[in-house]
Amino acid sequence: MPHPNPLTKPAFLQKLQWVADPVSYMKSAARQYPDIFTAKIIGFGNTLVFVNHPEAIQEILTNDRKTFTAPGEKNTILQPILGDYSLIMLDGDRHRKRRQLVMPSFHGERMRAYGELIQDLTQKVFGQLPINQIFTAREVTQEISLQVILQTVFGVYDGERSQQLKKQLKVMADLFRSPVTSSFLFFSPLQKDLGAWSPWGKFLRDRQALDQLIYAEIAQRRQESPSSRTDILSLLMSAQDEMGNQMSDVELRDELMTLLFAGYETTATSLAWALYWIHQNPEIRDKLILELESLGDNPDSMSIFKLPYLTAVCNETLRICPVAMLTFPRVVQEENVELLGHPLEPKTVLVGCIFLTHQREELYPEPQQFKPERFLERQFSPYEFMPFGGGVRRCLGEALALFEMKLVLATILSHYQLALADTQKEVPKRRGVTLAPERGVKMVITKKPIFASPENA
Ligand code: HEM
Repeated sequence: MPHPNPLTKPAFLQKLQWVADPVSYMKSAARQYPDIFTAKIIGFGNTLVFVNHPEAIQEILTNDRKTFTAPGEKNTILQPILGDYSLIMLDGDRHRKRRQLVMPSFHGERMRAYGELIQDLTQKVFGQLPINQIFTAREVTQEISLQVILQTVFGVYDGERSQQLKKQLKVMADLFRSPVTSSFLFFSPLQKDLGAWSPWGKFLRDRQALDQLIYAEIAQRRQESPSSRTDILSLLMSAQDEMGNQMSDVELRDELMTLLFAGYETTATSLAWALYWIHQNPEIRDKLILELESLGDNPDSMSIFKLPYLTAVCNETLRICPVAMLTFPRVVQEENVELLGHPLEPKTVLVGCIFLTHQREELYPEPQQFKPERFLERQFSPYEFMPFGGGVRRCLGEALALFEMKLVLATILSHYQLALADTQKEVPKRRGVTLAPERGVKMVITKKPIFASPENA
């Protein structure tokens, strides 16, 4: 049975372009087949069906327990970083149970408890930046999101090991900062340890250094008596399966690594994009400031979270530059399955293409323009606007990511005046398996808060 709308470009060219310039690859494919096409790219087996039509995406994501499942084995591209026991590698019942265990840490009361931390960190990090000197927004937002995720994962966590862990996590994330270095994740023949100076050799050594830090933390926790700690490591360590077994050190390491990686790169990048778009458009910045001022002095974090225009700005940021281009793969499990009139064989691998869905002209007129108003003028379905995916693998950190984005932006805008320090446009470029602004968004602080300490003024 033929696959729907196969692209005719030679497979090796498709693979290269997908790794080197995924945005051009997706846009050119969608010009030919806007709703659904079959790609021959790398990282997902021989063929991968890209689905960009909201109705078809709905069909997949609302039936991804039975007709289209989400097998962990299809996510092996992340295995070198996350290991075999990460939630992302699990499926079925074990996957559901692990999600249930971890989910509450990123929602409700537990999440709200991070409000003050996020605002304080933002003040601290921005307070240290000198006035009128160029900084890279992505690096600064990374500092904030890294600290937030460390707190959720390890609880109150300070001292020498935490500093080393932060440093080592940054080193690892930066290994895949460009399309060229990202290619090591995609092309397995490049994954050869040719010594500490070879790219893969360096990756393996950096990973080992990070693992040692995580294992040392696990070992120390195992020595401590059970406490009332509510961080994720404590939760995972006290969990038992139906046979009464607890998680092994390797299982714990893989889960911690998953949450650390999934949680900080994505949010940091989205925040850098938000700062870029807000400062590209002075009117948008002014509107945001007016809205924030309407809350009076020292608003509480939930009032900030609920602000409609701030929400629209965050949504538009996640629409126009979704950090995750694709959902995780889903696989056809049954006979006689059709999507948009195309028959699909069992075992066909599909992804919802978040990037192309967000570029659909009929949903988002002038899709290249940053227009937060679209989100005030109409409601989009979860299959039209889906920066966090959907179905059984819907992002676990969605609530935390949005909460963090809004609080960081509100804190910056209420206290500092920033400007872009670059006349060139930022474009989305591959960074590992995500899309990030190519130059990281260069900015300057032009004015500090009136109440800043004398050395910062
Ligand atoms: C703006 C920030 C973020 C974006 C855009 C984002 C996006 C996504 C997307 C698109 C998926 C795949 C969903 C699917 O296949 O349907 C995903 C999964 C996931 N995300 Fe996020 N994410 C963000 C932040 C976070 C944070 C802060 C965490 C921290 C815990 C996190 C943890 C995860 C995990 C663990 C999964 C895998 C879920 C599973 O396999 O069941 N993400 N995310």
